[in-house]
Amino acid sequence: MKAVIPAAGLGTRFLPATKAQPKEMLPVFDKPTIQYVVEEAVASGIDDILIITGKGKRSIEDHFDRSFELEYFLRKNNKKEYLDEVEAISDLADIYFVRQKEQKGLGDAIYCARKHIDGEEAFAVLLGDTITSSDVPCTRQLMDIYERYGASAIAVEEVPRDKVERYGIIDGREVSEGIYSIDDMVEKPPISEAPSNLAIMGRYVLESEIFDHIENVPPGFGGEIQLTDAMRELKTVYGCVFRGKTYDIGNRVDWLKTSLEFAMRDDEIRPELVDYMRGLISRY
Ligand code: G1P
Repeated sequence: MKAVIPAAGLGTRFLPATKAQPKEMLPVFDKPTIQYVVEEAVASGIDDILIITGKGKRSIEDHFDRSFELEYFLRKNNKKEYLDEVEAISDLADIYFVRQKEQKGLGDAIYCARKHIDGEEAFAVLLGDTITSSDVPCTRQLMDIYERYGASAIAVEEVPRDKVERYGIIDGREVSEGIYSIDDMVEKPPISEAPSNLAIMGRYVLESEIFDHIENVPPGFGGEIQLTDAMRELKTVYGCVFRGKTYDIGNRVDWLKTSLEFAMRDDEIRPELVDYMRGLISRY
C-alpha cells in the first residue's frame, strides 16, 4: 500500500514562525513534525510515500534527501551518532513529491495524488497535525481493518463536546468493539449539529474510488473541497477508535505540550527541565 501525506497548508496558526518555513518542519522536541508522520507510515509497512507540497516547502524535500556535505563533515569529525541519524532519514522510504498549485482544501490536496495511486485498490492518508503513539501503529491498525472488511477505514477518537467544531465528526453504529459502521459524517459542525463526539483524527485508508467523489463534490466548509464530504459518497466506511495516544500539534498550546512531553521522556533532559518548570510555576 502507498501513503499520501498532505503538507501544502500555509500554517497560518503558527505565524510568524511559518512565514518562511513550512509548518511541517517545525520541530516537536527534536524532530520535524513530518518525520514522525513518515516514520509512522514506515512502521506500518509502507515504503512508498507521496508528499503533497506547495510553494515554499522545499526544505521538506531537502530533509528526506541525502546531504553529502553534512555527512562528509560528520564523518570527518567522528560524529558517528549524528551521521547514522542523518543517513537513516534519507533511507526511510521512497518519497515522492507533487505540488498542490492552489489552496483549495484537503480534498483537493489528496486529489493531487490520483496519478501516483493509479492502479492501487486503496491507499493510506496521514495528516501532519497529529502524531500518534501506540504498539501497533495507527495506520497499520486501519490497514488491518481494510484487509478484514474490504472497505475504507478511518481513525476516530472521542473529543470533548466543546471541541467538535474543530474536526470532522462521524455518525455511526458500533459493529464490534471500537469499530463503527459510519452512516454519515460532517466537517466541523457547530456543537448543536454534531451527530456525536467521535472525531476524524487524521488517519485514513481509502479506496481509490474516493478520487471520483472528490472530483464531483462541491466546495463545502470554508468554501473548500473537503475530504470528509467526498468520503460521505463512499458506500462503506469504518470508523476505528484508535488504540493508542494521539498528540494534536495543530495549534500552539498543544504543539508546545507535546514537545514538553517528548522532552520529559529523555532521561538526560528531564531533571533540568523539571527544575526549570518548577521555577517558572513559582514565578508566574
Ligand atoms: C482535517 C479534516 C478533519 C479532521 C482533522 C483532523 O481538518 O478536514 O475532518 O477531523 O483534519 O486533524 P484540518 O485540521 O486540516 O482543518
